Amino acid sequence: MLRLIGLSGSLRRRSFNSALLRAAQSAMPAGCELVLESIAAVPLYNGDDEATTGIPARVAALKDAIAAADGLLISTPEYNNAMPGVLKNTIDWLSRPSADRERVYGGLPIALMGASPGRFGTVLAQNAWLPVFRTLGANLWSGRLLVSGANKLVDEHGRLHDADTLERLDAFVAQFVQFVRASATPAASTAKVQTVNPES
Ligand code: FNR
Repeated sequence: MLRLIGLSGSLRRRSFNSALLRAAQSAMPAGCELVLESIAAVPLYNGDDEATTGIPARVAALKDAIAAADGLLISTPEYNNAMPGVLKNTIDWLSRPSADRERVYGGLPIALMGASPGRFGTVLAQNAWLPVFRTLGANLWSGRLLVSGANKLVDEHGRLHDADTLERLDAFVAQFVQFVRASATPAASTAKVQTVNPES
């Protein structure tokens, strides 16, 4: 069974990005599961806290879940033309301590998608993530899913109901799963070693 972890970058109860991620869960092809993890209990990063009390339990658990998974699917909101701080905070925590970064992120297949009520469907937030995952040595997939006008596509129960978006999501998920499977071949694992950031 191929296992992906899903992270929504919103804490909002009626988040469009969480709705998109739940729809992605339903769109998973056979032999593949998407486990949704929450970032709600991740504290604000503080180097003093890390030095005195170490890695918080929730962060350690998320790190282990991601390290054991075959890939990561992120649904990112866009705040002020970039990524939301709560999600960046989580991604940063997961990179600590730096000696553990390769275990969590090294060669990890990652896909980015996002939903916004606006016209551009989180394109700038997704662009803002590129240098972050490059720095972390992840294997960022080049596909992307931009969902604009999200407030019209999600019903009052938090269900994505728009047929066209669901169709695009199906194709997106299927292609990412193919990418994850291809990344797991022996030849790809050799390439994975070469993605480690030489500056770290
Ligand atoms: C936003 N929003 C927003 N949307 C967008 O398309 N581009 C942007 O730059 C911004 N900037 C922005 C800043 C801040 C501080 C907030 C709170 C919101 C709107 C945003 O897309 C909207 O609130 C979404 O509903 C957030 O995603 P969730 O919570 O629905 O997943």
